[in-house]
Formats: sequence, C-alpha cells, structure tokens
Amino acid sequence: MFLNSAFFQLFFSLLPLALATTHTKLFTQGTTITKPNCQAKCGNLTVPFPFGIGRETGCSINPWFDVYCNASFNPPKPFISETNLEIFEIAEDNLRVKNTAGGACYDKLGNREYRDQAIINLATSPFTISDSNKFTVVGCDELGIILGSEESNFSGGCFALCSSTDSLIEGDCSGFGCCQTSIPKGLKKLNATVTSLDGHISVWSFNPCGYSFFGDPNSYSFSVSDLNDSSFEERITQNVPVVLEWAIGIQNCSQATKSNDYTCFRNSICVDSGTGLGGYRCICSQGYEGNPYLSPGCTDINECVNTPCDEHGICTNTPGNFHCSCKKGYRGDGIKDGRGCTADNSGFPVINFSLGISFGFLAMIIAVTVIYFITKKWKLMKLREKFFQQNGGLLLKQQLSSNESSMKSTKIFTAEELEKATNNYAEDRILGRGGYGVVYKGILHNQLLVAIKKSRVMDQTQIEQFINEVIILTQVNHRNVVNILGCCLETEVPMLVYEYVSNGTLCHHIHNNGGMPWFSWDSRLRIATEAAGALAYLHSAAGMPIIHRDVKSPNILLDEYYTAKIADFGASRLVPLDQAQVSTLVQGTIGYLDPEYFQTSQLTEKSDVYSFGVVLAELMTGRKPLSNTKSDDEKSLATFFVMSLKENRLFQIMDPRVLREGSLEQIQSVGELVKRCLKLHGEERPTMNEVAMELEGLRQFSRHPWTKQEIQEEGIGLMSEDPSDLYTVRFNSDLKTEDF
Ligand SMILES: *[C@@H]1O[C@H](CO)[C@@H](O)[C@H](O)[C@H]1NC(C)=O
Ligand SMILES: *[C@@H]1O[C@H](CO)[C@@H](O)[C@H](O)[C@H]1NC(C)=O
Ligand SMILES: *[C@@H]1O[C@H](CO)[C@@H](O)[C@H](O)[C@H]1NC(C)=O
Ligand SMILES: *[C@@H]1O[C@H](CO)[C@@H](O)[C@H](O)[C@H]1NC(C)=O
Ligand SMILES: *[C@@H]1O[C@H](CO)[C@@H](O)[C@H](O)[C@H]1NC(C)=O
Ligand SMILES: *[C@@H]1O[C@H](CO)[C@@H](O)[C@H](O)[C@H]1NC(C)=O
Repeated sequence: MFLNSAFFQLFFSLLPLALATTHTKLFTQGTTITKPNCQAKCGNLTVPFPFGIGRETGCSINPWFDVYCNASFNPPKPFISETNLEIFEIAEDNLRVKNTAGGACYDKLGNREYRDQAIINLATSPFTISDSNKFTVVGCDELGIILGSEESNFSGGCFALCSSTDSLIEGDCSGFGCCQTSIPKGLKKLNATVTSLDGHISVWSFNPCGYSFFGDPNSYSFSVSDLNDSSFEERITQNVPVVLEWAIGIQNCSQATKSNDYTCFRNSICVDSGTGLGGYRCICSQGYEGNPYLSPGCTDINECVNTPCDEHGICTNTPGNFHCSCKKGYRGDGIKDGRGCTADNSGFPVINFSLGISFGFLAMIIAVTVIYFITKKWKLMKLREKFFQQNGGLLLKQQLSSNESSMKSTKIFTAEELEKATNNYAEDRILGRGGYGVVYKGILHNQLLVAIKKSRVMDQTQIEQFINEVIILTQVNHRNVVNILGCCLETEVPMLVYEYVSNGTLCHHIHNNGGMPWFSWDSRLRIATEAAGALAYLHSAAGMPIIHRDVKSPNILLDEYYTAKIADFGASRLVPLDQAQVSTLVQGTIGYLDPEYFQTSQLTEKSDVYSFGVVLAELMTGRKPLSNTKSDDEKSLATFFVMSLKENRLFQIMDPRVLREGSLEQIQSVGELVKRCLKLHGEERPTMNEVAMELEGLRQFSRHPWTKQEIQEEGIGLMSEDPSDLYTVRFNSDLKTEDF
C-alpha cells in the first residue's frame, strides 16, 4: 500500500497549492476592473475596484480605498491617499506598499550619530499588517525592539550579533549579523527601534550602522555587504514591500450577507478577512472571472478559448465549467489530458492508447485503494464471522445438528486458546508437516498435551476435508483411533485439536528407527492387530461405515505405550449402509493405493484392506512401499512382495528381526494374509474384520509358552550374526513343498 499512500500524499499536497495560487492572484483579468468613467491605471499599477483613483471621486468603495495618483512623478506613483503609503501592487486579498526602514549609525568612539524608527501606522484604516511580514534586524551589535500600539500592547524583538564577517553566511538570518522574528496578525501599528549594546566600537570597521524593518521576508536576503552599506535603508524601502491585508467593512460574511451594503455580486463568494478584526472580501466562484465588487459580478470563463479538449473533440462552454465531446466517428471523453478522442474504427492511436493506459492505471490505483480500505474495514468487522463461515462453520453446524445423537462432545476452541497453547505457533512446536498443513504440539491451560493441525491454505476442498474429519472423528470412539478433542474455526485457517500421540508415526519407526529394542516381532504383530481392529471397527460402524481411504504407515501413530492410533481422516468417507460402493474422486497415497479403486473410482471397504496389506508388508519387510533406488520389479512393495512370495523368496525379503523372532508359521501366515489383502480384485480380499481376527489369532498363538519354546528350539540355528544366507538356504528348501 506504499504506492497508494504516496499517491494520496501527492494528491492532497497538490490541493492547497492550487488554492493558494488562486488566492493571491491579482484580479486584473476580465473586462470590468474599475467603475465606469474612472481611471484604471496610475503609472504601471492597475487599480481595480473597490480601490479607485482620485480623492473622493466616487471611484472607490469608500475614501479609505481612494488611491492618490501623484503625477509629479514620472511615471506617476499611486498612494493610499489617507496614509500616504506608496502602493506597489494590489492583489485579491492583499496589497504591497512601500516600506520605511529604521536605523542608527555610530562614530568610531561609539557615539550615536543618528537614529530613526521603522514605523507602520494604519490607524483606523481597513488595512492590517499581514502576519506574512517579518521583523528583520541587520547589524553586528544590534538589539531590535518592536512595539505595538496601545490597542494591542505587543512587544518583541531580536538580537543580531557578530564579531567579524568571517563567520557570516550569505542569506542566513538566524542571529549572526541578521535576525528575523514573526509578528502577530491583525496589527495596525508597529514601531521598531534598534539599540546598540556597545556603540559598535568593536565592529565599527566593518559595521558602523544597525538597521531594522518590517516586510515581506521573501523579498529580502541577507548579504554580508549589507553591514557596510550606507544606502541600505533606501534599498529596503524600494525593494522590500510591506504586505497589508485589506477587507471591506468590519462585518464578517455571515453578518454582511444580511446587510444592505453587501458588495459581493453574482457568481462570487464571500470570504472572511481572517485577521480577527472583522471585514470580508469577495472572490469569483470557480469557473468565473471579473471583478466581484462591481455589477453585474463575475462572468463565466470561456474555458474553450484555451482548447482543453482533444483535437477531434468539441468544446462546449457552460456556466462555470466546460464540456468536451467527440466529433462524429470518434469516441472518448474528449478531454485533452484525459482519454481524448479515438477514431471509432482506428486500431490503437499511440497517443490515445498511452493516455488510456495512464488513465486506466490511475483508475486502477484508485480502485485498488478504495477496495483496500473497504476490505480492511469489512475485515475488521467481520473477520471472525467470515473465518467461521469460510472454514465451514456453517457446514459443521449443520452436520452436527443432523447427527446430534451419535456425537460425543467436541469442544470449539477459541483462537487465543490455541495461540497460547502453541506458544504462538512457534517453530519448535512443529510435530510434522504434510500436504494438508502443519501439526503443532500444544499445551492447553490444564496442562493437557494436544496436537493441533493447522490447514495450509483455505482451499475449499481442504476445508471440506477438515470438516469431514471433524464429523467422522466425532462419531468414532475407539482406543486405536486418534481422539479428536475439538476444533477452532475462528482463525484464518481452520484448526483441529487431537489428543497428543507422543511416539510418532509407524512409518518413522519402521524406516528410521528399525533397530529400537521395543520394535519386536510381537510388537509389530500387536500394532498390526490394533490397526486392523480399528479399521474393522470403522468399516462395521453401527451408523454408517467409514472408509478411511488413506491407510498408510505415516497415518498410524504410536502413543507412549506404542499403542497404534489411526489418524488423518481428512479423506475418509461415510458410506450409507444401503450402498456397497461409492463413486468418488480417487484419493490416497501412491504405493498404498488400491489399483482397482484407481481404475474404477469405485470406493469400497476393500480399498482400505489393500492399503493395510501394504502396511503389513512394510511392517514385515522394513521396506518402503515405493522405492526410487530399487530396480523396476522392486519399485512397488506390493508387487515385489507378491512376486517374492510366488517365487518362494519370502524369507529373503523379511526384516532380519522379524525372521529372528517370528515363527515360521506366523511369518508364513502373515505373508499369506498380505498376499490376500493385495489381491487385485477387491472381492477376493478378506474383510478388515477377517484380517483383524487372523492377526489376533496369530498373536494368541505366539503368546502360548509352548510356541515360544518351539520357536526357540527351531530358531537356535537362526541366531547367527548374518542370518539372511542361512534363511535363504534353509527356508527355500523348507518352503518348496508349500503352495504359494
Ligand atoms: C513600468 O512601465 C514602464 C513603461 O511603461 C516599464 O519600463 C517599467 O519596467 C515598468 N515598471 C514596473 C515595475 O513594472
Ligand atoms: C506629489 O509628489 C511631489 C514630489 O514628491 C510632492 O512634492 C507633492 O507634495 C505630492 N503631492 C501631494 C498632493 O502629496
Ligand atoms: C495596553 O496597555 C495600556 C497601558 O498599560 C492599557 O491602558 C491598555 O488597556 C492596554 N491595551 C490592551 C489591549 O491590553
Ligand atoms: C515608538 O515607540 C517609542 C517607545 O515606546 C515611543 O517613544 C515613540 O513615540 C513611538 N513612536 C511612534 C511613532 O509611535
Ligand atoms: C565600508 O564602506 C566604505 C565606504 O563604502 C569603504 O571605504 C570601506 O572600505 C568599507 N569597509 C569594509 C570593511 O568593507
Ligand atoms: C460573525 O460575527 C458575529 C458577531 O461578531 C459572530 O457572532 C459570528 O460568530 C461571526 N461569524 C463567523 C463565521 O465568524
């Protein structure tokens, strides 16, 4: 938004500038300047009404505005007749008159040779000393004092000191050889004197006199040579005018407009004098010119004279304004600095095109700015509600109300609560990242550890998945399914809060931590059984069966006791009981994805069975479901596993620890089970319930003490350091009789 604020600054800083220039203009435009039969000029000066040349000739609005034109001078000089001030310039709201400077000069010994004062006395005139004047003192041993009159009792002054000319700076009037101070507005009398502290004794050689004057500071710039300039006072009176403000009467506009002698004519507006002493002036309304104090008032400016329209445009002057249109066969706004006129069927005249571009760009900036501010305000007001809706709050509400009976209580967390819990989403709280977003570890105020899943983007499909997950998880209550505690929809992205499962994913333990002591054959079998049990439970859930759709080792979490917990139900589907299969967009993870589902898009529970088969294979072999490093045959674990089984090489691909700890029967049974799970046709696969039962059976089998013994007896020979070769020989021969 930097661009926009800069644009606004530029735009608004230009406005007062434009106003200021119109305010100080000389009102000599237009035809009517003076009253009829009155002299318009005195020397070089045009004297507009309400001023008028001549004493008591009726050419001015009142005797105070009489201008005496002394023809003894060549060219003649105009004076304000009542005050005898020579006029340099008359503008709409001020006039500039000749100055008087004051000064004092000293001799070598410090005796004052003469002194005169700078005096302005406007007495009872309708003129006031403008506060744009400044009091200036020039000298190296000078105290300048200003005094107002009895009516205002104003006093002020400044010091101008220096010890040599070396340190002085041309144009600088801040106390070294020159000082300047402001005066208040609305003064009518001022009187200034200069006093020396030391009689100029120490500076006499280069500065024998001190000076003071009131005047327009823009007309004077300090020069070091001023310090030894005997004609200084004369130069000031000629070159530095005093600015006076003038106004009509002593009434302000609101009073004057009601009175009989209100003098602002048509198409003009009244402005208060701003001196605090009352009085008003008239200025022409925008688009008009002339002398507002004279009948009939201001006249319309014919803007068309200055051809503000395009060369193919038609300019129409209207009162106070103008209007551009385009000739036949052209279109556009007709304004020269606007879009101009472009030929209807011409391609892209370069000039108009670029004008269009710049206009369009301007409009775009404005539009963007406006949209930005509106959006910002709207956001502030509606942020929470918006997020709530955006994050599917309504969808969730609807779902919750329609499923009320089967719900367990799900807490709606506030944004602050989760912010606090995650230490403002600190990096070191991140448990994992995935395509869905980021999972943070959180500590609730009651010290309960939770996992907080933050969606990555506000993509609508992902939001639906989030809501879906909430709905599914609130319907499930199983010790091997990760428990949802609640959600938060007030934040920019929706967030889900789960029980904290401390020991990471199964995937991590298989592929990164395979050597951990606890990760025994028994444990693997138990985890598989638990996961299978949870899936079986989901598939046979009372209300509506739930198909997980993304069963994989990264989605099986392990808690502190290494109990399996199925997680990530984002893609899961509730399947109505009367529908055996549902047609969906294929979703899942390559490597685990059921090929039949992939081909037909027909989702059944058996897709989960297939994926579970891959997990089981992963558990037994310690291999990744998809390998980039292996040869083509071995790329897909599912294919590789089935092939190895067919070729009686099952024991070659087993994880060494599985081989060591599992019994032959168990390994064979699990291998067989995997093979059945991985059948290409879903119908040939066992149900999840059957898988769970079978695994449970195998576990029972391994728990019997006699089984253990048997394994140990059988396994004695297998406990060597490098068992794979032994296995190969032994099991190959052993398994030849088996029918895979
Ligand atoms: C006044 O007018 C004369 C001739 O008309 C011209 O030479 C002179 O420069 C003018 N002075 C000013 C201050 O405009
Ligand atoms: C006009 O100017 C001359 C020359 O400075 C002066 O002598 C004379 O008095 C002036 N006229 C009036 C009426 O002030
Ligand atoms: C200015 O001072 C004089 C004398 O001290 C006093 O009479 C007068 O009222 C004062 N004027 C104002 C406007 O304060
Ligand atoms: C200027 O001020 C001084 C000091 O107060 C005073 O003596 C003098 O009369 C004043 N002069 C005028 C013209 O007001
Ligand atoms: C001051 O001016 C006088 C006369 O113009 C000149 O003689 C003298 O040298 C000047 N002094 C300095 C210090 O400029
Ligand atoms: C005009 O003057 C009257 C009387 O002094 C005052 O009540 C009113 O507020 C003034 N109006 C403005 C706009 O200054």
